[in-house]
Amino acid sequence: MDKNVIVITGGAGGIGSVTAYSLKDYKLVVTDYAQEALDETVLKMKNAGLDAVGFVCDITNKASIDALVEFTQKQGIFKGLVHTAGVSGTVQNPKRVFDIDLLATDMLVQAFYEIAVENSVLILIASIMGHVIPPNPAYDGALLNPQDENAWSIIEPFLENNSDNMYNFAKRGVHLIAKHHAMKFGKKGARILSLSPGVILTPMAEKAIAEHPEQMNQMLMMTPAGRYGKPEDIAATVQFLVSDAAAFITGTDILVDGGVLTQMLKQ
Ligand SMILES: NC(=O)c1ccc[n+]([C@@H]2O[C@H](COP(=O)([O-])OP(=O)(O)OC[C@H]3O[C@@H](n4cnc5c(N)ncnc54)[C@H](O)[C@@H]3O)[C@@H](O)[C@H]2O)c1
Repeated sequence: MDKNVIVITGGAGGIGSVTAYSLKDYKLVVTDYAQEALDETVLKMKNAGLDAVGFVCDITNKASIDALVEFTQKQGIFKGLVHTAGVSGTVQNPKRVFDIDLLATDMLVQAFYEIAVENSVLILIASIMGHVIPPNPAYDGALLNPQDENAWSIIEPFLENNSDNMYNFAKRGVHLIAKHHAMKFGKKGARILSLSPGVILTPMAEKAIAEHPEQMNQMLMMTPAGRYGKPEDIAATVQFLVSDAAAFITGTDILVDGGVLTQMLKQ
């Protein structure tokens, strides 16, 4: 019998690799762009009993995404995409953050929509930082349609050439994309949603803590849960969100942040 297949982008990363272990009932297509890191990650998963297969994909490259989709179809029935691949604002290049965190997300949604069937679900890992960008018709259209040839030139003037700003805008875009496409996925009996982590202790967050210690400590002080998050916090939520128990959850953003966003917005 064909197995249900879940694709994890950023599968060699902090959140992606841990999330795989919460999806033991599925065939996993684990993807990332560095062959060596991916091979090492997939070997560990297989040794732990996971039914995992690796596939190298640069998510900024449309042909590479198409190859991933084709590979996925050969593995069984498409159950879901857990899209964790991304970069933080520490990449000192706003256009690169736009390409990886926003444009690539939109291309993945478009490509995986084609193979979505009843009960498929796309979970896009966004960030609480997307919620600090206010709604504004001046840029929201471009955030929602990053593949439009004018999108970058519309967004760029709002960034002050700052990659952290682009990260926040990109994550707002991810929220908008999940909401916008929900109806279309619903017509197939499929779901799409975003999940916004707070600070989760992975190499990405550790870099941010090292670069902005005061700002990050302030966030910790404002977190009702009294701690930073762990990749396991995201993995457990993803496990629920892909399951039938979450069948009525779509077209929204799920916060997994220890309560910090609500405190930040109160300031
Ligand atoms: N860690 C946090 O505190 C935190 C907080 C909020 C949101 N997030 C989001 O969660 C997601 C995962 O973060 P993480 O902490 O696991 O980061 P990470 O850096 O550990 O993992 C990200 C993975 O994405 C991969 N990747 C980057 N560019 C790629 C490309 N072009 N093609 C294919 N793969 C690519 C990297 O190789 C890496 O393995 C990101 O979207 C991030 O923005 C993280």
